[in-house]
Amino acid sequence: MTATASATQIRSGHESDLDELTRIYNHYVVETPVTFDIEPVTPDQRRPWLLAHPDSGPHRLLVAEDGGRLLGYATSSAFRPKPAYATSVETSVYLAPEHVGRGIGRLLYAALFDVLRHEDVHMALAGITVPNVASQRLHESFGFRSVGRFEQVGRKFGRFWDVAWYQKPLADR
Ligand SMILES: CC(C)(COP(=O)(O)OP(=O)(O)OC[C@H]1O[C@@H](n2cnc3c(N)ncnc32)[C@H](O)[C@@H]1OP(=O)(O)O)[C@@H](O)C(=O)NCCC(=O)NCCS
Repeated sequence: MTATASATQIRSGHESDLDELTRIYNHYVVETPVTFDIEPVTPDQRRPWLLAHPDSGPHRLLVAEDGGRLLGYATSSAFRPKPAYATSVETSVYLAPEHVGRGIGRLLYAALFDVLRHEDVHMALAGITVPNVASQRLHESFGFRSVGRFEQVGRKFGRFWDVAWYQKPLADR
């Protein structure tokens, strides 16, 4: 799928994007608590994640691209492995740090939820390490509702972090 707004194009992510996707992710691994990975990953280590998000089905990877440069990506991923969870997905979005605050997160999420309308997905969930005002605002503006907070569930940078959980029902097909 593709969608375009101004010069930014949204499309499915592929193996040729792996280096750039890994570079964006590693920024947040190394510099922030927004992900609970602690050590940077190599593109090879990241490949199984990429392959778990094909061009069809409930688990998707969309990228935002402008002039051949990757600006960020959004995913819907397996929430938990047991089969009855198959209709729930965990969604996430990461932008290259130089491209935050320009509406690209909104563009990616709009495209992701558009794609998911055609899939057998009943509920989207998002776990946000707090504080992360931009992410909390983004999720709330897409209709996610705060459903609670897991306290001190991650230790990174020598302290414990809370994770706020959000969920959004999707219209069943
Ligand atoms: C979170 C993130 C995806 C949001 O995308 P973005 O393109 O920066 O945000 P947008 O410009 O689309 O704005 C979305 C909303 O957040 C608000 N927002 C954006 N940056 C903000 C900031 N620094 N402080 C407060 N609010 C902010 C916008 O006003 C907008 O709110 P609205 O819907 O009420 O108008 C992006 O900032 C990012 O990649 N952050 C780092 C990685 C991360 O935290 N990912 C989420 C993991 S859960």
